[in-house]
Amino acid sequence: MRPRPPWSPARAHEILSGIRAPVPVLLALQSLQEEFGYVHGDAVPLTADVLNVSRADVFGVLTYYRDLRREPPPAVEVQVCMGEACQAVGARGLRGSAEALAGPDTEVRDVFCLGNCALGPTAVVNGRIIGRATGDQVSRAVVEAAGAS
Ligand code: FES
Repeated sequence: MRPRPPWSPARAHEILSGIRAPVPVLLALQSLQEEFGYVHGDAVPLTADVLNVSRADVFGVLTYYRDLRREPPPAVEVQVCMGEACQAVGARGLRGSAEALAGPDTEVRDVFCLGNCALGPTAVVNGRIIGRATGDQVSRAVVEAAGAS
C-alpha cells in the first residue's frame, strides 16, 4: 500500500477541479480516495460545491458504495473473495482463517469476484493477489505487509 498524504481540502479541490465535466459523483469520490486512501467528511460539501450537486447526492453515493471509505484505511487490508467459484473451493474456510488475523491494524473484508476464479480461493493482501490461497499464505502475507507499512 502506498503512503497516502494527509487530508487536504486544497489538494482535494485541485483533484476535483482537474476532472473533466460532467463528472459522476462516484468518479470524483474515487479520485479523492485514490489520493487520500479514504473520503474525508469535509469532502462532501466540497465535492457538492465543485460538481454543483447537492450534499445529499454526494453523501448518498459515499454511503451506498461499500468500497468508498469514510475513515483512513488500516495498515493491512485483507480481501477474501466470496464469489461463487471461490466459495466452491473453500473461500468460507479461508475467510475464517483470515478473520483470525483481524485487529486494529488489519481489516478483513469480503469481495465478490476478483477475476481470478480459476485459481480460487482468492485473497488480496494490500493489493497483492494470492491464488489458491491458504490460511498460512494469507497469514504470511499479512505479516509481510505489516512489516512493510
Ligand atoms: S469468484 Fe473469486 S475470483 Fe472470481
